[in-house]
Amino acid sequence: MSGASLAGRRIVVSAGPTFEDIDPVRFIGNRSSGKMGFAVAEAAARRGAQVVLVAGPVSLHTPQGVERVDVRSARQMREAVIAALPADVYIGAAAVADYAPAVIAPGKIKKKEEQLTLALVRTPDILAEVAVHERRPAMVVGFAAETHDVEFYARGKLEKKRVDLIAANRVGVSGSGFESDDNALTVYWAGGARALGPAPKTELADQLLDLILTRWPA
Ligand code: CTP
Repeated sequence: MSGASLAGRRIVVSAGPTFEDIDPVRFIGNRSSGKMGFAVAEAAARRGAQVVLVAGPVSLHTPQGVERVDVRSARQMREAVIAALPADVYIGAAAVADYAPAVIAPGKIKKKEEQLTLALVRTPDILAEVAVHERRPAMVVGFAAETHDVEFYARGKLEKKRVDLIAANRVGVSGSGFESDDNALTVYWAGGARALGPAPKTELADQLLDLILTRWPA
């Protein structure tokens, strides 16, 4: 589980969910544990990379040798990721909320009517922004959590977001997914694909880093 050296490389990894506040006591979140992104950050640091880990709200220890920046919302995550550029690699493993409340109520929303409608607005797409940034990393890697037509949607994201690799979670493989310690990924690039795992996320992290190195632009 060693792999090729990443000494001299700067790698920015995003991990975990984002929480989008509704009012001072409520938020919209998701079930991402952050384990996959933390495993990638840890593996990259172990190989000598300079790693910035932009973490949403998770209860995980900071991997050794990793610079961690804690954030809460998609907007804060975007700021932290852009501030961490330039880098050689960006790995967007975070489950970023696609929508956030249009306004954060300053006080706790009290129950009144039978129905309550929450207005939501799109959050910035961090991955797509990094991929066209003037300080674009040589390798931009996204994740995709799909329940069906995995290849179709993964390849769609590859093109639409202009990224180099998309690692799609193979859902339906036993023991893989958001809260599990194990995972199975199929990584897609223009003209190719490779299945990784099922394996512990720590092992998959090393396999993903190896694949990133083999796909590195000449
Ligand atoms: N992502 C991001 N910023 C967002 C939403 C997603 O950077 N606002 C990144 C994630 O970190 C991940 C990739 O985009 O690397 C895929 O996210 P996903 O939510 O699966 O894709 P979407 O484009 O949001 O498509 P959909 O939700 O329709 O499947």
